[in-house]
Amino acid sequence: DRVVALVPAAGQGVRLGAGMPKAFVTLGGETLLRLAVDGLLASGVVDRVVVIVPADRVPEVRGELPDGVDVVAGGAERTDSVRAGIAAAPDADLLLVHDAARALTPPELIARVVAALRAGRSAVVPVVPVADTVKTVDPLGVVTGTPERSELRAVQTPQGFSADLLRRAYAAAESVATDDAGLVERIGGPVHTVAGDPLAFKITTALDLALARALSEEPAI
Ligand code: CTP
Ligand code: MG
Repeated sequence: DRVVALVPAAGQGVRLGAGMPKAFVTLGGETLLRLAVDGLLASGVVDRVVVIVPADRVPEVRGELPDGVDVVAGGAERTDSVRAGIAAAPDADLLLVHDAARALTPPELIARVVAALRAGRSAVVPVVPVADTVKTVDPLGVVTGTPERSELRAVQTPQGFSADLLRRAYAAAESVATDDAGLVERIGGPVHTVAGDPLAFKITTALDLALARALSEEPAI
């Protein structure tokens, strides 16, 4: 089965506020995008990588990434960017969708997701327990409920799918979703979980970038 990894990297990084699209921020001299791509290639379970970047960045990224990595233009919402990646991977049997912003994801986690797909699952997401108690609130901020924390998981990437299932989920999608598995859930597909990893955290804010930079430094001892 041919495994193609799609790397959405076309976001603006508004919450990080680095003054440039987040995927082009560097960590130890490498862009988040390059680190994410290198992690996918290092996993040994990915046959081809398609990165999705802001339209005006396509030529420079084509020049900088390793041969064999394809580069296409993204869209206004993450859903639009992933859709562009799916269109560029008609040859895939299995599709991974992996945020460039999760630049420190261990290759072992990527291999776990693919192993679950190869074992017959058609939708797989890496998850970690939630540390905070989570509440639902109404538009005025008044608490409406407290879901049982032991039943909650935070979801990471790469999320893995049989390619046909993800194509059908995107074909049926009528609005944006914050993750790809959410679209599979809407068409009724079961989504399975594998153990995530704290290092697969998403670099969203300046605090996250400070943590990533600290983790990337040479260890003191
Ligand atoms: N992404 C994308 N196309 C978009 C929006 C997001 O490819 N139109 C990508 C981002 O580049 C990132 C991943 O989706 O790798 C997760 O999105 P997020 O962390 O929200 O990144 P940004 O949208 O760039 O950040 P922000 O929401 O703070 O602007
Ligand atoms: Mg975003």
